Amino acid sequence: MTDVRPATTADAAGIAALEALAFGPEAWSQELVLVEVTAPLRHALVVGDEPLGWASVQVVGDVADLTRVAVRPDARRRGLARRLLADAWSVAEEAGSDRMLLEVGASNDAAIGLYAAAGFVEIDRRHGYYAGGGTAIVMERRRDGGTS
Ligand SMILES: CC(C)(COP(=O)(O)OP(=O)(O)OC[C@H]1O[C@@H](n2cnc3c(N)ncnc32)[C@H](O)[C@@H]1OP(=O)(O)O)[C@@H](O)C(=O)NCCC(=O)NCCS
Repeated sequence: MTDVRPATTADAAGIAALEALAFGPEAWSQELVLVEVTAPLRHALVVGDEPLGWASVQVVGDVADLTRVAVRPDARRRGLARRLLADAWSVAEEAGSDRMLLEVGASNDAAIGLYAAAGFVEIDRRHGYYAGGGTAIVMERRRDGGTS
């Protein structure tokens, strides 16, 4: 089963397991995942029963922030993240946002490729943003197709 669906509290353990596989020491704990799944203004989505992937977006006013997207290593390059991102965009649009922002590590080629393919463009760079000193790229996708 690989439909994208809203995450529920019953998915928290499975999402935390996939987080550990996708992010290692940077993974969110089950407690953090539970907060993301239940917090107001947040929309968490999963794909697959286990699940195989998840994404979460926070919508405040007309701006949506993509807070997370990850797919299990053994399920990658099958278009799951593309579908999660497309549904996150639709959910954010329905909630009233006309643009989406995200931050991605400058060395994360897979994620940058995913976002670029989905229509996100770089609008800023934050040097030393991450704990280890790494650079974050800020990317944006606008409903009108423009850039800030
Ligand atoms: C980034 C990630 C979510 C992509 O998941 P995925 O399901 O494999 O991505 P998809 O199969 O939907 O790929 C969609 C497009 O993204 C791009 N892409 C995905 N993986 C890529 C890679 N390793 N290198 C370059 N481009 C890549 C391609 O354009 C791809 O389209 P294509 O397969 O037709 O070429 C996954 O690699 C992951 O979970 N990484 C670890 C967690 C992470 O870094 N999350 C993002 C934090 S900002």
